Amino acid sequence: MAETVLVEKSGRVAILTINRPDKMNALSEQVRVELLAALAEAERDEGVGVVVLTGAGEKAFIAGADIGEFAGRTPFDQRAAMRTPRIFDVMATFPKPVIAMINGFCLGGGCELAMSCDIRVASDRASFGQPEINLGLIPGGGGTQRMPRLIGLGQAMRLILSGDRIPVAEAKEIGLVDLVFPHEALREKTLELATRIAARSPLTLKVAKEAVRASERLAIEEGLMWERDLFCLCFSSADKQEGVEAFLAKRPPAWTGR
Ligand code: COA
Repeated sequence: MAETVLVEKSGRVAILTINRPDKMNALSEQVRVELLAALAEAERDEGVGVVVLTGAGEKAFIAGADIGEFAGRTPFDQRAAMRTPRIFDVMATFPKPVIAMINGFCLGGGCELAMSCDIRVASDRASFGQPEINLGLIPGGGGTQRMPRLIGLGQAMRLILSGDRIPVAEAKEIGLVDLVFPHEALREKTLELATRIAARSPLTLKVAKEAVRASERLAIEEGLMWERDLFCLCFSSADKQEGVEAFLAKRPPAWTGR
């Protein structure tokens, strides 16, 4: 069976490419299994500091779940297919930063996967939407929960209830994407950002991501307490020692991830 997830390395950045361009990189069961395996390997590999997720070809990032697999499924079949671990949650809690490099259609489960990533960088040709309503469905990959947290209740309602597809400029305006680049420059610009992040201490990156992610589930008082505890925990790391000493000695820090 052909590989549906390609993995390449650029320095400390692992680039995972969903490779079903003739099916708009739809998230089949095989893609999900291979993506989980690629993420597990990227987690194990100390040479990987940041993961970039993208889609093969010029048209699509990911056009959603594989609709062909929905036909004829019973609720029990569907429940089995949605067993944990779910790629959306694995992405959101992955212990290294994950950047979605959105090169085209970013729809349904593709948009939900992008929302589960830490940063969304898009091509000026990308478009976005949650079209499940057109299939008699609702988003099932966390969209009804992550989208309102990211772009607010009203905009999330508009996109989920209408199923409308919006262009990248609008997605940027409402905060669904963070950075937009000309299509031809997308890879270079995304890798520049990823490489810059991957040069930081992996230990401190992990703690920073955990602290920011806590804001999705904690009330402000608990979140601020959690931040203070994690900030103080950093004082036990060799990298905090190194970072402060390097600053005071006016030299670049050499991180060890300890
Ligand atoms: N699942 C399965 N197959 C998909 C797919 C999906 N989510 N999205 C696209 N494809 C397939 C098409 O069936 C077609 O396959 P075929 O060549 O064997 O007929 C191929 O990808 C190309 O798609 P096509 O529709 O011909 O391209 P387009 O440029 O006219 O339109 C989209 C592109 C993305 C707008 C359109 O394919 C689409 O609306 N896809 C479904 C999006 C969706 O509803 N996602 C939510 C799923 S819950």
